[in-house]
Amino acid sequence: NSKSKMTAIGSYVPSQVLDNFELEAMTDTTDEWIVQRTGIRERRIAGANEFTSHLCIGAIDDLLRNYDGTLADVDMILVATYTPDFPAPSVACLIQRHYGIPAAGTLDVNAACAGFVYAMNLANGLITAGLNRKILVAGADTASKIVDYGDRSSCILFGDGAGVVLMERTEEEGAVVAQHFGADGNGGIHLYRTGLRNELDGIELSGDGKLMQSGRDVYRFAVGTVPPGVHKLLEQAQWSVDRIDWFIPHSANLRIVESLCEKTGIPMDRTLYSMEQYGNTSAASIPLTLAMGVKSGRVRAGDRLLLFGFGSGFSYGGMILKW
Ligand code: ACO
Repeated sequence: NSKSKMTAIGSYVPSQVLDNFELEAMTDTTDEWIVQRTGIRERRIAGANEFTSHLCIGAIDDLLRNYDGTLADVDMILVATYTPDFPAPSVACLIQRHYGIPAAGTLDVNAACAGFVYAMNLANGLITAGLNRKILVAGADTASKIVDYGDRSSCILFGDGAGVVLMERTEEEGAVVAQHFGADGNGGIHLYRTGLRNELDGIELSGDGKLMQSGRDVYRFAVGTVPPGVHKLLEQAQWSVDRIDWFIPHSANLRIVESLCEKTGIPMDRTLYSMEQYGNTSAASIPLTLAMGVKSGRVRAGDRLLLFGFGSGFSYGGMILKW
């Protein structure tokens, strides 16, 4: 009866900083408005020749600095992203090629900002089903490539980054305690990027391939969906909220996080987020934030984590697991 656990973590952000004052020069906004409404002070922007796969490789190289094992026996690579380098081949294949991993399955998972938690839940499922033993799970996005810097209500939010964990089979106690996924496809028109198609239900979608959102609808979705999801996870675990050492919701916006804490009863001082220095890094935000917590020594071995991602779709996914 196999179980899974996380054995290593790494993260990476591009070196170029875009702060609120630079945005003031690019669009009609102010540092004060952005900080008050979102908590974001700066974000990182990938270079012209730097794509999601490069950010993943940066995060995996970082993971390898703190991991004694090898990647040669990785048997599955899952990459959560909605900004892959190419629609095909997948980012997972680009990673497999870069490291010369001989016998890995490869798959990109698109659930936007919920993607990393979806991929983690998939990894746990594959390992507990006995199909895989060692899975690289990355969350990475380069939203800056698809953001409209003329749209002040969305361009201020997004930054680029990547985080990656190794999930491995263990004969000991498994790390995953509870899992929960869901979606409300009616929310599709509130947060999207057009691709081959630019109409939905007869509604013409604008944006011309740029990321479009109705901020208020996204906000309402997040604060309406995450708290009941957290309760479902706690119910599944048969835990009270004070057993959670660290709550790591998707770092979309500090006000959303504050509201989630208020509604779930999880205190802000047991909540980790990264939007202040990195903005909303989409599928990367949860593993990036966890990596920051681990590196700073706040998150310690055995700590009980509640992760919760939400985003375009609308889609959402949560899990309780131990570090
Ligand atoms: N600077 C200055 N003023 C602005 C800016 C800006 N950057 N953006 C909007 N405004 C103005 C608006 O034009 C509006 O002016 P008006 O009252 O004269 O019409 C006013 O500020 C209020 O605008 P709202 O959109 O109502 O502002 P709100 O308080 O809702 O904040 C925000 C907007 C920050 C986008 C908020 O709705 C939010 O955070 N939503 C969630 C967005 C999010 O997290 N999206 C990503 C989800 S994850 C994923 O899957 C990608």
